[in-house]
Amino acid sequence: MAAAIVYGTPPHNLVDVPTGALQVSPILPGSMALESLAEASLDEAVVSAPPGTAERDYVLAQALRVLKPGGRLTAFAAKDKGGSRLKKSLEAFGCEVFEESRKHNRICTVERPETVAGLDAVLAKGAPQQMGQLWSQPGVFSWDRVDPGSALLLASLPPLKGRGADFGAGIGILALTVLASPDVKSLVLVDVDRRAVEAATRNVTDPRATILWADVRQAGLTDLDFVVMNPPFHDGGAEDRALGVAFIETAAKALRKGGSCWLTANRHLPYERPLAAAFSKVELRAEAGGYKIYEARK
Ligand SMILES: C[S@@+](CC[C@H](N)C(=O)[O-])C[C@H]1O[C@@H](n2cnc3c(N)ncnc32)[C@H](O)[C@@H]1O
Repeated sequence: MAAAIVYGTPPHNLVDVPTGALQVSPILPGSMALESLAEASLDEAVVSAPPGTAERDYVLAQALRVLKPGGRLTAFAAKDKGGSRLKKSLEAFGCEVFEESRKHNRICTVERPETVAGLDAVLAKGAPQQMGQLWSQPGVFSWDRVDPGSALLLASLPPLKGRGADFGAGIGILALTVLASPDVKSLVLVDVDRRAVEAATRNVTDPRATILWADVRQAGLTDLDFVVMNPPFHDGGAEDRALGVAFIETAAKALRKGGSCWLTANRHLPYERPLAAAFSKVELRAEAGGYKIYEARK
């Protein structure tokens, strides 16, 4: 069997994924890290290319790095999510590109050239790096600036107490503020993105913190005094309000009776109803710049 990898989950019938291909997406917990694979060791790679330019070029560069010369890379993306730029990116690495359009996607196939042009510079640009004091990486949520919704939550949070969790913790921005309260006994940071988890591990060194690479819906947390979160509203690139609602329901399950969930949300997201359904009391604590902060008590 050819040694192969797949990055992400290609839609059915769009591209062929080799049997036994190793999953290397950082947003699928338990996957192998692409960075850990040896240079020129694989025959085939299939990449569902991410939308951000630095992230996408980094993933393509990593895939070319691990392929043997002559190995085959198939990369695809929706036309309006970076697909129309794939060919140019691959040509910049010195690849000869065969491009097709199918089901609103561009699919590019290349053979890994003997020498990949500009590989090191692209790998460096997409690698973990410090933004001011904090470690981050292109591809991680709001990787190079504090999200305004998170900033409003940071400004609204009271000092918290007891055992808590940060759902979808990212690189640890909320966690660092939560841990400034000496009454916090423990804090579990959970994120589905390995790159965020690795950055958070560098950023949040407080011994009260535990950092998990997991889907929060499957993390099995219970009996908490508080949860903080800026819930995701995208799942694999597509807007998905159901994921935000699942975060709210999971927080309600994870809290003890009387425990509270502090949440920031874009004003256009309809979270009032799921909050009211899952909690006994919901209060709007702040509203500014298109964001709302709620405290929901179980
Ligand atoms: C809106 S961002 C907030 C990040 C960080 N808390 C902040 O305020 O900057 C949502 C985070 O949830 C993570 N996420 C998405 N789906 C998840 C899931 N099912 N389980 C855990 N984390 C998830 C994303 O990787 C992302 O880091």
